[in-house]
Amino acid sequence: APKLTVPNVRLRLSATEEQMQINTQTAPAIKEMFNDASKDGVSLVFGSGYRSAAKQKLFYNSYVAKDGKKAADSYSARPGHSEHQTGFAADVTSPSGKCHLQICWEDTPEGQRLASNSWRYGFIIRYPNGKTNITGYQYEPWHVRYVGKDLAAKIHESGQTLEEFFGLPDAPTYD
Ligand code: DAL
Ligand code: ZN
Repeated sequence: APKLTVPNVRLRLSATEEQMQINTQTAPAIKEMFNDASKDGVSLVFGSGYRSAAKQKLFYNSYVAKDGKKAADSYSARPGHSEHQTGFAADVTSPSGKCHLQICWEDTPEGQRLASNSWRYGFIIRYPNGKTNITGYQYEPWHVRYVGKDLAAKIHESGQTLEEFFGLPDAPTYD
C-alpha cells in the first residue's frame, strides 16, 4: 500500500472509507484541480481513489457474479491489478450522481472539465474512447491517473495512451 491521505476536496463517501484516500504524491494535484474547477463553477466530486487488493476483490467478484467474467474483465481490473491500488488513480464524479461511472458522464459539465483540463494538473484520462484493444478496458471518461505535469502535457499532446507513449505491449486478452 502506498502512503495515503484523504484529499481536502468534496468526497462522494464518508472520509473514513478506504476509497476516499489517495497517495500523498497525488493529493495536492487533486486539490488544485478540484479547487480551480470550483472557481469556474464546476463541482468535481472525488468518487474513488485508493482501493486495496481486498477491496478490488470484493468489487471484481460482485461484477463477475452480475455480468460474468468476460464482461467484468472489460471494465474492472482483477484484484492485485488495479491502478487504484497504486493510489495514483481517481474516479471523478458529479454532485448530482448523474451518469456516475457511465459513458454519458463525458457529456456532463464535470466530465467535460476533466477531459479538457485534467492534463494541466498532471492527470491523463487513462482509458480513452476507441483504445480498448490497447488498454484492455472500455472507455472510462471518469478515471484519471496522475503522472505529473510534464508527462501529462506530453501524453495529452501526443493523443496516445500510456501504453503507446511508452511502447508497452497492448493489454492481454483473457480467456
Ligand atoms: N475500472 C478500472 C479498470 C479498475 O478496476 O481499476
Ligand atoms: Zn477508476
